[in-house]
Amino acid sequence: MIIVLLGYMGSGKSSVGKILAKKLDYNLIDLDDYIEEKENLSVREIFKNKGEIYFRKKETEYLKSLLELKENTVLALGGGTPCFAGNMEAIVTATNATSIYLNGSLPFLSKKLFKKKAKRPLIAHIETEALMLEFIGKHLFERSYFYNKAELKIVTDNKKKDEIVEEIILKLF
Ligand code: S3P
Repeated sequence: MIIVLLGYMGSGKSSVGKILAKKLDYNLIDLDDYIEEKENLSVREIFKNKGEIYFRKKETEYLKSLLELKENTVLALGGGTPCFAGNMEAIVTATNATSIYLNGSLPFLSKKLFKKKAKRPLIAHIETEALMLEFIGKHLFERSYFYNKAELKIVTDNKKKDEIVEEIILKLF
């Protein structure tokens, strides 16, 4: 089975994915890391040197190939992955995959991301917490449509990573 973790930037996909994969003894693939490895560039460099459209093309290409995996895998997506190029459709229809939306609230995500924006090209330029809240509010509104197509949803605010992992396991097995 492929457990696909999705949700907005800062929702904990990578860190929860790491713990979950270890606990279940599944392989772990973080799509951003995978793209960086394959392209030999960081996500920030890809956005800067080749543009977002190039990044999105590669993201779709690698996602679709990873959804074919037969090994037990936790696949942590990028925040935008479900929202482009029919990717969410591909995830939901992949026979071997189960999708989980890690659902963080706007205030929670905004606060966290303001401190961790540097590596994230879409928000790195945002200068104040109020502007971050406004940007993420609009962005989440657009993206929630796609995130909500996931088969399972876990509310993550104020929960420890281990608790989120336990909740996922309970819902899945
Ligand atoms: C993006 C989220 C990032 C990364 C890229 C674009 C997005 O991943 O894929 O910067 O569009 O939300 P994280 O959600 O892991 O930060």
